[in-house]
Amino acid sequence: MSPDQDLMERIVSLAKRRGFIYPGSEIYGGLNGFWDYGPLGVELKRNLKDAWWHDIVRSRDDMVGLDSAIIMNPKVWEASGHLAGFTDPMVDCRQCNSRYRADLFSFVEIYEISPGLADLDSPPEVGTYDNLVQTGEARSTGTRFLEPPGTTDEELQTIVRRLLGSKRAKIVSVTEQGSIAPPTKCAVDGNRAYLLGPGVVGETYCCPSCGGRLTEARNFNLMLPTNIGAMEDSSSRAYLRPETAQGIFANFKNVVDTTRIKLPFGIAQIGKAFRNEINPRNFTFRSREFEQMEIEFFCRPEEAPKWYAYWREARFKWYVGLGLKSDRLRLRDHTKDELAHYAAACADIEYAFPFGVSELEGVANRTDFDLKQHQQFSGRDMTWFDDETKERFLPYVIEPSGGVDRATLAFLCEAYDEDEAPDEKGNPQKRVVLRFHPRLAPVKVAVFPLVKKDGMPEKAHAIYEDVRQHLAAFYDEKSAIGRRYRRQDEAGTPFCVTVDGQTAADGTVTIRDRDSMKQERIPAEGVLAYVRDRLHL
Ligand code: GAP
Repeated sequence: MSPDQDLMERIVSLAKRRGFIYPGSEIYGGLNGFWDYGPLGVELKRNLKDAWWHDIVRSRDDMVGLDSAIIMNPKVWEASGHLAGFTDPMVDCRQCNSRYRADLFSFVEIYEISPGLADLDSPPEVGTYDNLVQTGEARSTGTRFLEPPGTTDEELQTIVRRLLGSKRAKIVSVTEQGSIAPPTKCAVDGNRAYLLGPGVVGETYCCPSCGGRLTEARNFNLMLPTNIGAMEDSSSRAYLRPETAQGIFANFKNVVDTTRIKLPFGIAQIGKAFRNEINPRNFTFRSREFEQMEIEFFCRPEEAPKWYAYWREARFKWYVGLGLKSDRLRLRDHTKDELAHYAAACADIEYAFPFGVSELEGVANRTDFDLKQHQQFSGRDMTWFDDETKERFLPYVIEPSGGVDRATLAFLCEAYDEDEAPDEKGNPQKRVVLRFHPRLAPVKVAVFPLVKKDGMPEKAHAIYEDVRQHLAAFYDEKSAIGRRYRRQDEAGTPFCVTVDGQTAADGTVTIRDRDSMKQERIPAEGVLAYVRDRLHL
């Protein structure tokens, strides 16, 4: 599935226009990597967290909840390894000060191809890119640049034109013509042709935005520092947590000592996390402040593979159950090289967002790494004593760790649809509709009077007051009825109820289904039961 930036822009624009997500601090020009959830967005996100808490904590006998502090003793981050190792390689542009994550970008070198081979309209079978460089038929121009992920041919052309000082250079895909592989891209400028080949990490590169020189890559710690108390020195240094998980590990003994829980069991937590991301991007996908929903599931070491398989499957099914049904959801097992040094196994639940396939949640077998580290750094005993076997050991942990904002974004993207609906005069009009799962829909039912007279507003308001005691409801009497339906389609409201002229005569109202747009008449007093029955709420 190829990225669709245009679709993403329409989703971002709807999210702003309808009050799902706004840029943070917008009246001051915004703050990169921070987002605010508006009236519909906060309901959507809350519904998602409630669904997780209900399914993970309240419905299970082997799980308890926790809400630990965002700022913890800095020793926590020493023990967890975040102080030493929670870094990304970063490069800066010396000219425009843009900052890039070197590991996400491609290092590209521009090679000029020998004039004899440069006729790319009917290229000869010249073999591979390596051959060309080895035989000297492609020579480095000494110009190198960082290519951002997801760069289109048009954007690539702009970069190459700037760097080569050419107004006419055009990007062509050479492998399509069957001659050179890899690389896939060439730039042609009159009778000159250039290969865009892989560069060597560590060389000096040009900035894709301004063409300026970039610094060498250096490691940048992603934890956001702060100071506690009046002194602003290293003794008062603390960090906003980069993950909620460590609050769980630090409270492992507290939970064991204060509950009746028995191994295997999990501790679950939803809360804010902060990372000083070098390149916040793709709307809320990579933010600097975000929420996580994390489970640390403790078990006997020999049972860890079984529980890993269980959670890998269960977490995938959870997303499917809430509406990520399409072929856009997938489970990807990490290769051995990708595994963190403490992880025995890891799988990512990925979603094909309009900007590309990316991680929603990771499920990892973290072994006894975290408890062992905290035992060593705190000097406290973190072992579990098994009453039956009389064994004492450090439990292993399986960690399903998901992002609330990423999941909210995935559900928003999945729900977004455009179709046609007749307007007031019966002419087909483009309709934007969010087809949310009923559990996630911010509003479950909207109630309208057809017109603002003949007792219709009073009757509609009475129905609304009754329904809102049980379900999220919305009342609206402004503008033409068709426009009110459209507004609710854009909010993802599954049902709209309208009180009209017939209501006074026979006590019935119309109820309109968001997805089929079909309407039926039902008794006014049956609205709540009808909606609950259809939405299984
Ligand atoms: N305790 C393990 C842990 O934090 P992670 O893969 O770094 O693992 C878990 O993060 C999840 O948190 C990710 O799958 C993602 O959904 C979310 N997440 C991580 N960084 C994020 C960011 N910068 N913006 C939004 N969500 C993020």
